[in-house]
Amino acid sequence: MFSKKMQKALNDHLNAELYAAYLYLAMAAYFESTHLPGFANWMRMQSREEMGHAMRFYEYINERGGRVELQAIDKPPVNFKSPLAIFEQALKHERVVSKEIDKLFDMARKEKDYASEVFLQWFVTEQVEEERSAEAVVEALKMIGDQRPALLMYDRELGQRESE
Ligand code: FEO
Repeated sequence: MFSKKMQKALNDHLNAELYAAYLYLAMAAYFESTHLPGFANWMRMQSREEMGHAMRFYEYINERGGRVELQAIDKPPVNFKSPLAIFEQALKHERVVSKEIDKLFDMARKEKDYASEVFLQWFVTEQVEEERSAEAVVEALKMIGDQRPALLMYDRELGQRESE
């Protein structure tokens, strides 16, 4: 069993992953409405991945004999400025999540909670990948600029992302 402090922090993070799933789903919905189905697909896959992250926390809390306490999920934005602005926001969000994971890892270390440390290790590695994939899209969109045909071609490419 972990400490009450750790249980709360893990539950808070479970909520953060659920919010990420919700945020990316809102971004997907926006892309659907602007006729960019490939971008929408990418975001739907990302949202699904975030649900998977949330469930890892859910399962881990239960495995350790803790209590999952679900909290309200904040309302995500409805409208966005542009594909680039969306992916910049996604990247910013991933960087925040990485910092939160680092804080949890630090807490596990301080409490000598080695099981939590090992559990969190997966997320430390995953966040490197999460930041990298959002950043790759940001860079591509910067290159595309306002060239609509290139944007549509890239949309087709992102439409090929499958769930992991
Ligand atoms: Fe669950 Fe994208 O971090």
